Amino acid sequence: MSNNSTPLLEMKGVEKHFGGVRAIDRFDLRIMPRDIYGLIGPNGAGKTTIFNTITGIYQADEGQILFEGKDITKIKPHEAAALGIARTFQNIRLFENLSVKMNVIIACNMHNRYSVAEAILRLPRYRKVTKAIEERAIGFLESVGLADKADDIAGSLPYGHQRKLEIARAMATDPKLLLLDEPAAGMNEEESLELVDFLKKLHHDNPITILMIEHHMDVVSRLCEQCTVLDFGRTLAQGTVEEVKQNESVVAAYLGGEL
Ligand SMILES: Nc1ncnc2c1ncn2[C@@H]1O[C@H](COP(=O)(O)OP(=O)(O)O)[C@@H](O)[C@H]1O
Ligand SMILES: [Mg+2]
Repeated sequence: MSNNSTPLLEMKGVEKHFGGVRAIDRFDLRIMPRDIYGLIGPNGAGKTTIFNTITGIYQADEGQILFEGKDITKIKPHEAAALGIARTFQNIRLFENLSVKMNVIIACNMHNRYSVAEAILRLPRYRKVTKAIEERAIGFLESVGLADKADDIAGSLPYGHQRKLEIARAMATDPKLLLLDEPAAGMNEEESLELVDFLKKLHHDNPITILMIEHHMDVVSRLCEQCTVLDFGRTLAQGTVEEVKQNESVVAAYLGGEL
């Protein structure tokens, strides 16, 4: 059962080992519905591995992961998507040779109801559904400001637009939880401030919860009320950005770094 006091996502004592490396070590996390939550830490800290355990790409070796109070520790990636967990990737993964619109249509198709036979025979119901899906896809492109690029080839878009297209595609699966892996990577200050406004609006307009990995501290402090700082797979600090910046072990972990 879930209610307002049930976290949307909870990780309890989660561990993931690769040989001798403890990529995540006794990791705890609680994210309430509608949070925008930040996950920070140096390279190799285990951030992406956390996303991979939540989405079933990796199975946790220890611990428990709950989504809306339900145990999803052993979930498969397609089951995570069906439950409403969507993600973007640290290295953008689009169908580069397909149109912008088609990249979103493929994600919309996840939830539609026509059969493969209907699709092959192109029966009227299929045509109606595809028209509806196309309109839906354009709607998502509008929400990320890419509707005028619908027929462009995805791989030809500038980097910042490709990141937005990935987010539009994630939104097309109708997620409850959106996991963003370094959305501002490779962006300059102006572009990352624009991304902040964009994500604020996306969160305002849709009933989503966001967990984001991000190195740009100005992005995290503008978006996230709470964050967790990770180093060597362990939580160093948890709190507001201002609070974790004061934390001695966080300062030490980032010595010479950008925090
Ligand atoms: N599939 C894998 N096989 C072996 N080691 C891995 C694998 N994925 C991640 N790791 C290791 O786990 C640690 C955490 O990696 P990662 O989660 O990618 O860090 P981050 O995203 O914080 O930079 C690193 O030491 C990395 O080399
Ligand atoms: Mg990573």
